[in-house]
Amino acid sequence: MKLAVLLCSILAVCHGANVKQTRTFPNYFVFGVGTAAYQIEGAWNEDGKGENIWDYMTHTNPSAIADLTNGDIACDSYHNYKRDVEMLRELGVSVYRFSVSWSRILPQGLSNYVNEAGIAYYNNLINELLKYNIQPMITIYHWDLPQRLQELGGFLNPLIAEWFEDYARIVFRSFGDRVKYFVTFNEPSEVCSGYGSLGKAPMLNETGFGDYLCAKNLLLAHARAYHLYNNEFRPTQGGVVGFIVSVGSTAPLSDSDEDKYAVELYAQATWGIYADPIYSKEGGFPKELVERVAAKSAAQGYSRSRLPDFTEEEKAFILGTSDFFGVNHYSGTYVSQSLYTSQHAIPSSLDDIEVGTYSPDEWLQSASWWFKLMPNSVYIFLKHIHARYPDVRIYITENGWSTREGIMDDERVDYYRSALEGVLDAIDEGVKVHGYLAWSLMDNFEWMAGYSERFGLYEVDYEDPNRTRTPRKSAFIYKNIMKTRLIDHEYEPESYVMTIDEGR
Ligand code: NOJ
Repeated sequence: MKLAVLLCSILAVCHGANVKQTRTFPNYFVFGVGTAAYQIEGAWNEDGKGENIWDYMTHTNPSAIADLTNGDIACDSYHNYKRDVEMLRELGVSVYRFSVSWSRILPQGLSNYVNEAGIAYYNNLINELLKYNIQPMITIYHWDLPQRLQELGGFLNPLIAEWFEDYARIVFRSFGDRVKYFVTFNEPSEVCSGYGSLGKAPMLNETGFGDYLCAKNLLLAHARAYHLYNNEFRPTQGGVVGFIVSVGSTAPLSDSDEDKYAVELYAQATWGIYADPIYSKEGGFPKELVERVAAKSAAQGYSRSRLPDFTEEEKAFILGTSDFFGVNHYSGTYVSQSLYTSQHAIPSSLDDIEVGTYSPDEWLQSASWWFKLMPNSVYIFLKHIHARYPDVRIYITENGWSTREGIMDDERVDYYRSALEGVLDAIDEGVKVHGYLAWSLMDNFEWMAGYSERFGLYEVDYEDPNRTRTPRKSAFIYKNIMKTRLIDHEYEPESYVMTIDEGR
């Protein structure tokens, strides 16, 4: 049996294979699911919540969103959180990752006024989770900056580090007695793409400048919050604080040294820029990236590099400021220096490194334009992170597949099974993966795609004022994997009626 799995991982054809798996997940390994505030909560202006950059953008520029929708109501989890917890119990997860909304807690972004109704909402959710022995993992920032702070420059203003520290203090102080997993930032590359492209709020599109400046300020903000926890809260609360980067898998398009080097450069530009300052040995931005941006900037006539570097003191301040490596993963791509020509905006980070990407037509396309199924991608990226930072403890904080509507989601079932085979393969080879959180508990507002792409284990009926949630086939399959702690490729649900297994 093991041989079959090994062969299929070598040949990269595991997907959907009829292999009955017998390897089990180690005892320390935790399973869960994730969501984020703006994507599920709704109640955008209720009980004192302030406006955030997604409220502002979707209201003032509705056509930015593919189906012209917004997160005003979303899954209405502000009112339905008990049903959400019931679904978590149905699935039998041990961890629930959700984010807290900065402008629900601090309507104006700054800490002079705390909205107690916002604190109460998260307290209720946390207490409901703990009642059923589900560990909360709080993402402090999942892309929904208070609009007022954006008007003061957002992540382009170095003061963001202080604003974020003040906000994080309120989060730790309010919830840290019960919450033991915190994440400062979710996917800095996507946060910063809001400054370097039109792909996310606030759509600043300062490509090759805004994204780099945001990267520096965001890392300093993260480090401040980490030190704050260490100094003021860890001694009594005893939790952990991590940072989540999104990592795509990569393979060189050819055997050439240039393409192998392209893999390294691409890693530096897409996730090393955020991860190296924290997890590498020396700290700071990745060396070749710094050199490349400096050289490109000079060639473009700028008197200094568009990537603002850290001082030695800042490097030391950021280095080592994470208790685990949180990683979101969806897919991957081939990379090559030969594909570089005119694929990218000028200036931009991919133009700076002169690398292009390619995803074969044969790779299964998800419902999202940016995301095809790269065979074996979970195993590949886990090995990559392990090779780069051998000592880190990894949690996969997001992984999932997008479809359109429909309960029978066999593509998602295959995706989860093969992703989790990749996790087991990596664990077998010594990679320190300690947990897996599926994205997502339920369909939700998928940012620029609105509600047109669905990532949920539960389908949400947006036509229904109650936002009824119905488990998909994948919910039953994931439940069985968590319960048995192994991947049975032949398992089929006996019925599609979800129940809670008491006593788990
Ligand atoms: C990563 C983001 O963190 C999450 O908010 C988003 O829904 C998923 N990717 C899927 O695009």
